[in-house]
Parts: sequence; C-alpha cells; structure tokens
Amino acid sequence: MPRVLSGIQPTADSFHLGNYLGALRNWVAMQQEYQTFFSIVDLHAITVPTDPDELRNRTRLSYAQLLAFGLDPERSCIFVQSQVPQHAELAWVMQCLTGFGEASRMTQFKDKSAREGGESASVGLFTYPVLQAADILLYQADRVPVGEDQRQHLELTRDLSQRFNGRYGNTFVVPEAYIVKDTARVVDLQNPLAKMSKSLPAGCLFLLDDPKAMEKKIKRAVTDSVGEVHFDPVNQPGVSNLLVVVAAMSDRSVADVTDEFGGGGYGPLKQAAADVILPFARDFADRVEALMADRAELDRIMDDGARRARNVAEVTIADVYDKVGLRRSK
Ligand code: TYM
Repeated sequence: MPRVLSGIQPTADSFHLGNYLGALRNWVAMQQEYQTFFSIVDLHAITVPTDPDELRNRTRLSYAQLLAFGLDPERSCIFVQSQVPQHAELAWVMQCLTGFGEASRMTQFKDKSAREGGESASVGLFTYPVLQAADILLYQADRVPVGEDQRQHLELTRDLSQRFNGRYGNTFVVPEAYIVKDTARVVDLQNPLAKMSKSLPAGCLFLLDDPKAMEKKIKRAVTDSVGEVHFDPVNQPGVSNLLVVVAAMSDRSVADVTDEFGGGGYGPLKQAAADVILPFARDFADRVEALMADRAELDRIMDDGARRARNVAEVTIADVYDKVGLRRSK
C-alpha cells in the first residue's frame, strides 16, 4: 500500500474550516487506500514563542480533534511529533544538505518572520521547512495531503530527497503533494483576497467556536457589489468561496451548487453555508468534548501512536546514519 503522511500544528484552540476542507477531510478519506501517518507537529509550534501549558493543552486538544474528524487510530498511525525523536535527528542531517539561499527563498518563512519582527525570528523558524521535509521522508511517504500554502515546502522536500539519494544512494521515496484543487485555498471570510488563517481571527471560522459566533461570521462574510451569485473566483472571490464551501460540506460539485444559487442574491447562499456548517460543527464539538473527558484513554491512544511511529521512523534513520557515516547506538 502506498504511504501517506501529513501534519498539523497545535497552535490554536480549534482547527478551522480551511484546515478541514484543505487537508483534514482528505486525511480521513485517504485512510481507506493508503497506509496513513498523521502528526500533531508540536516541534514546529515552538518555532515561535509558545507558552508550555498552552502547548500541552493544545496538543491534546488537537489530537482529540483529529479523532473527532474521523481519523481511526486502528487504521492510521496518529502521533505527536515530539514523542518521536527521529524527527529532530533526521532534520539535522537534512539541514546539512540544505543551502542557506534555498532556505531563504521559502515564502512562508518570509511572511512569518516579518510577523515575528524580522531579525528576532528564531533560527528554528528559518529551518522549519527542513524539519517538515524530515517528517515526510522518515515515513517514506508517497503522497502528502496539504493545502496550497504548503506546495513550496513539498518542492523543497522533493529536492532534498533527490539530493540525498544522489549523494548517498537510493534511500528516500520522492513524495508528491496531494492538493485537492477546489478546496486547496479556503479564503478569509472578511478579506477574500487572503487565505483563511488562525492569524486573522476575524475572518477565520474556528470549528469549536460558539455556534452563534460562527453563524454571525458566515452571515457577515464579505461578498462584492455585483449583487448576484456567480462562480467567478477572480471577480467574486468571497461568493465563489461560499459556493466551494457549501459544495464541499455537502459532498456536491461546485457546478451543482452554482446551478442552485447562481443568479440569486447572497442571503440564501449564506444561509445554505450556515445550514451545512453549523450542524457539522455541533457534532464535531460533541465528539471532541467526549474524547477530552477521558484523558487517560486519550493519552493511551497518543502513546500507542507514538510507539508505532517510532518503529517505522527508526528503520529510516538507522539507514540514513549508516549511509552518512554516523554511529547509531543500538
Ligand atoms: P498548518 O498547521 O498551518 O495547516 C494544516 C493544514 O491545513 C491546510 N490549510 C489550508 N487549506 C486550505 N485553505 C486554507 N485557508 C488553509 N489553511 C491551512 C494547510 O495547507 C495544511 O495542510 N507546515 C505545516 C505542518 C506540517 C506538515 C508536515 C504538513 C509540518 N510537517 C509534514 C505536511 C507534512 C503547517 O504549518 O500546516
């Protein structure tokens, strides 16, 4: 069976609609046909200043959310990155293969470091994409389901795997990004030119948010002055986003939803969005709450996932150490 790996950062109290439609929904679906590995990437979270207790809580809460979306710990290996030391070990080897200029071209680093105050951004934030490459390569993943914003990191991962293979002999599978076009970039409800992101909370639909607040955000979603629904992402990005969201949340095609709402006003489309999102979010919140209530069981599942991940990761890192000429203790 081909392998899949993906990861998500535990950096908010709730995942948002962009995470779900861009990535997590595909993770759930891919469990059927792939051998799947999914990680809460807490080592990535500390690349910006993070409160320890908040991180601990969010890691657990993030893990519960993955289960609540339908990831099945029997089918998938679901683990917390910091419990698998091989990630940091392979990241170091890969950093030594990455050019400084190459890393400097990563656009997410440029955006995030600007937000962190430029020069005071951490070196960890700079090498973050290399750690991400290590996450993927450790598991010999064939496919990596992500949103559009991760495409450049996937290109770097491919380059690094090929470079390693060229220098030390065939070692890594060269992974491919798996990006579902329609939902690859869910946009911000307040600014349809930006992607939906936890760093812009006003236009971000957090799925564990209070239902009333969510409804308000949907109803106040910024549209345009055309006045009629059309699927036209260039001229009507907000409205087109709502069409995509309604389609994805109800397992319909965008064309089908556009047929239903096209030519009409914006009110009914927003209502339809609320009608598909709110019941889903309510169910989701209930499942998360139940999972969080049994902390011992959740911790047991997390530890079990980590054990399985370590077994797979150790095979790769032992091979890498050997090829590079490093000694590994047995
Ligand atoms: P993160 O935690 O920012 O986001 C998790 C996933 O959600 C997707 N996503 C979106 N998709 C569509 N529309 C949006 N508005 C939107 N916002 C977020 C992201 O593309 C991502 O797939 N660097 C990664 C985490 C990571 C990782 C990995 C991913 C670490 N190691 C290995 C894949 C493989 C990140 O920060 O994602």
